[in-house]
Formats: sequence, C-alpha cells, structure tokens
Amino acid sequence: PKHVAIIMDGNGRWAKDRGLPRREGHRAGAESVREVVDACKELGVEYLTLYAFSSENWNRPEAEVKALMALLDRFLDERGKDLMRQDVKLEAIGQIERLPASTRKRLEKLKEKTANNKSLTLVLALSYGAREEIVAAARSLATDAAAGTIKPEDIDCTLFASRLSTAGIPDPDLLVRTSGELRVSNFLLWQISYSEIVIVKKFWPEFRQGDLFEAVAEYTRRHRRFGAL
Ligand code: IPE
Ligand code: IPE
Ligand code: MG
Repeated sequence: PKHVAIIMDGNGRWAKDRGLPRREGHRAGAESVREVVDACKELGVEYLTLYAFSSENWNRPEAEVKALMALLDRFLDERGKDLMRQDVKLEAIGQIERLPASTRKRLEKLKEKTANNKSLTLVLALSYGAREEIVAAARSLATDAAAGTIKPEDIDCTLFASRLSTAGIPDPDLLVRTSGELRVSNFLLWQISYSEIVIVKKFWPEFRQGDLFEAVAEYTRRHRRFGAL
C-alpha cells in the first residue's frame, strides 16, 4: 500500500488492565508509533496517517487532554533527529488552531525542519474530525461561489477533495484500527471510501512492527474492485 492510515485505539484499556492510569497507556503508545514508522519505512509505504487526537477527544477530562498534549510536545521535541535520519516528512491535519500555542509552535518547527524529506510522509491527525473537515471544504467552495470565482457546476469530486486538509495526499489504501472496535469515529470519512479495513484486536500499546506487516499481508490478499469488476 502507498498510504496506510491507523486509528490508534485502546491505550486506556491497556493501562486499565495493568492497574495503571490512562496516561501511562498513552505514554506506552508512543513506542508503537516508533514501531509503525520503522515498519512503513521498511515496506516502502509513502504515507502514514495516524489518528492521534480527535475533535471529540476534547470532551475528555482536562487532565487527560493535558497529558496527551504533553506527550505530543515530547514527541515533537524528541523525534526530530529520528525523522531526519529516516528521511521522514511531518505533516498535520485537523483543527491545529485549537492546540495550545506552545504545541503549535513545536509542530510548525518540526514540519519546517522535515519539509524536504522524501521517503515517507507522516501525517498526524490532531484535533481532527472528518465532518468538520468536510464542512470547512463546503464552506470554502460556497464562499468562492458566492464571490463568483467558481460556478456551482464546477464543483466535482476533484475540486472538493482539493479543499480538504488532505489535498495532494492519495487516499488511504489500508485503514487499520486497533483494540477490536468496529467503527471509524469521525476519521477521514471522505478519503476512506474505498480503503481496505483491517481490525486488529490488540490494544495500541501492544502493536509492533510485525502486526503492521500482518495487516499489510492481509491487505495484499484482498481483491480491490472499486465498484467495477
Ligand atoms: C486511543 O486510546 C488514544 C486516543 C484516543 C487519544 P484511548 O484513549 O481511546 O483508549 P481506550 O479506547 O479508552 O482504551
Ligand atoms: C478514535 O478513538 C480517536 C483516536 C484514536 C485519536 P476514540 O477512542 O476517541 O473513539 P471512540 O470514542 O471509541 O469512538
Ligand atoms: Mg478509544
């Protein structure tokens, strides 16, 4: 697959099973992120999109949101060297303006630093919600139509997709969700129209390179038809 997207789920339950606070699950999950980046590099995957924080995750207790932002800060502070060494370019999608200013600054810095890297693009979905993204695209097209710079009949799938935060990124070929949950939770609704879905029972902190290789092996056994024959 050219593009793998992952709903990293089950950190809280992983921690609960061990009698640990939820934030320890999130902390352990950071190691799995390292594993999947390595695995994607090895497989020659070009885009890896990770659902790290949803629009709805703002509704969690303040302490958990704070812990998640602190972990994100740490990731952005510490992973720069690895990303450079591995030739990984960092991008972000979502309502970035809702993140704390200090986190935004770190994110901008690392995006800039890695901007010329080429082998893998790591897209972090942060404060991301697909409905919000689709609404924003519709609003931007409506604004242009009202101003007369486009005509309503110009709006097609290609133009619409160009107004999404994933413009320029091919749709995910493979969508993985950990922790066995069978739902998409407001992730990339437009972009996963024809993605192959693989559900993995393991909680995210237990997910290792081999698990991604297995998911990709399952993907290669699928017969993609895109509605045709
Ligand atoms: C995924 O793990 C991480 C985020 C959503 C930020 P959860 O925190 O959702 O863990 P569970 O699903 O409650 O076990
Ligand atoms: C989806 O997981 C969001 C992320 C993995 C960042 P959630 O745990 O928030 O989703 P639900 O609540 O189980 O649908
Ligand atoms: Mg969850």
